[in-house]
Amino acid sequence: MGDDTGARGKLDGMDSVVTFTLNPAVDMSTSTAYVVGDRKLRCETRVVEPGGGGINVARVLHEFGVPNVAWWTRGGDVGERLAHLLDATGIDHRSIPIGGETREHLTVLERASNRQFRFNMPGPSLSEAELEACVDRVSGIDPSTPYLVLSGSLPEGAPDDFYARLARAAPKGCKVILDTSGAALERGVEADLYLVKPNVNELSALAGTTVEDEEHIRDVARSLLARGGVQVVITSLGAGGATATTRDEHWHVHAPTVRFRSAVGAGDSMVGGLVAGLARGWPLSDAIRYGVAAGAATVTRPGTQLCTRDDVERLLEQMA
Ligand SMILES: Nc1ncnc2c1ncn2[C@@H]1O[C@H](COP(=O)(O)OP(=O)(O)OP(=O)(O)O)[C@@H](O)[C@H]1O
Ligand SMILES: [Mg+2]
Repeated sequence: MGDDTGARGKLDGMDSVVTFTLNPAVDMSTSTAYVVGDRKLRCETRVVEPGGGGINVARVLHEFGVPNVAWWTRGGDVGERLAHLLDATGIDHRSIPIGGETREHLTVLERASNRQFRFNMPGPSLSEAELEACVDRVSGIDPSTPYLVLSGSLPEGAPDDFYARLARAAPKGCKVILDTSGAALERGVEADLYLVKPNVNELSALAGTTVEDEEHIRDVARSLLARGGVQVVITSLGAGGATATTRDEHWHVHAPTVRFRSAVGAGDSMVGGLVAGLARGWPLSDAIRYGVAAGAATVTRPGTQLCTRDDVERLLEQMA
């Protein structure tokens, strides 16, 4: 693992899903009684996990037993650390070497208020040549790859249309799923994509209006679909679950009520569950329910921990 060759794996007849993480991170989480200034804050046990959009999706796919290959950019000491963390998960991962240092992210839970403070350190800036290497990797993935997941923020140095470029580089027949925000999403949807997963704020920003209610979500999603490139819009609504919009249909999947611990990774888990269902050949409606259950299950886990398969299966029964 960790080399930069093309990859292919099959489990139970499933071709590997590929996730691509341009801005991965080492995620550290801890807790303290109060977050106050000018004092030493005594922190509890520290948990360190591999993170960043596509890597979180890969963690969820791995948990669900869905074969996947996780591509990521690897730089400096933090990059080495991330490689070791990924090795320990058993995820099949491949890295693209970069000159900058891979990002770090810190989440601190203030126990008194149950609020989370999330500190995102500056990430590396990718050079033209490094960006080019990423495009090459995407164009070199196995042509039988059923789904390519592009997820997370773009690193410094990447132009806003970089996800669109990666999507266009993917082999014909590989369905591209995009989960990002801001300008990266706005320019990303210019490419042909199978599915996009904005949350309601990201959808609002994309539409240049505040999306008020479900009818409005449907109309905004439909206008995105009408542009021609995107086939499915899944809008996630936090505790409200998610809506799915295609050219012919629109429906709402309600999330089960769960005990809230931490929302970190909820969106990525939702995408992971969704893609797991799709990779198993399920109908879109079942895959979305699985995604919503996975997001809800992650919310019950502290810090940066993600859903477990058992929790997801249990929640799915509640949703039936
Ligand atoms: N409080 C909650 N209760 C139950 N389920 C939740 C809750 N928050 C999130 N979820 C689940 O997680 C999914 C994704 O959540 P959300 O809409 O917050 O994504 P996001 O804003 O993209 O998250 P992220 O910050 O991880 O990118 C929801 O569709 C839902 O299934
Ligand atoms: Mg999100």
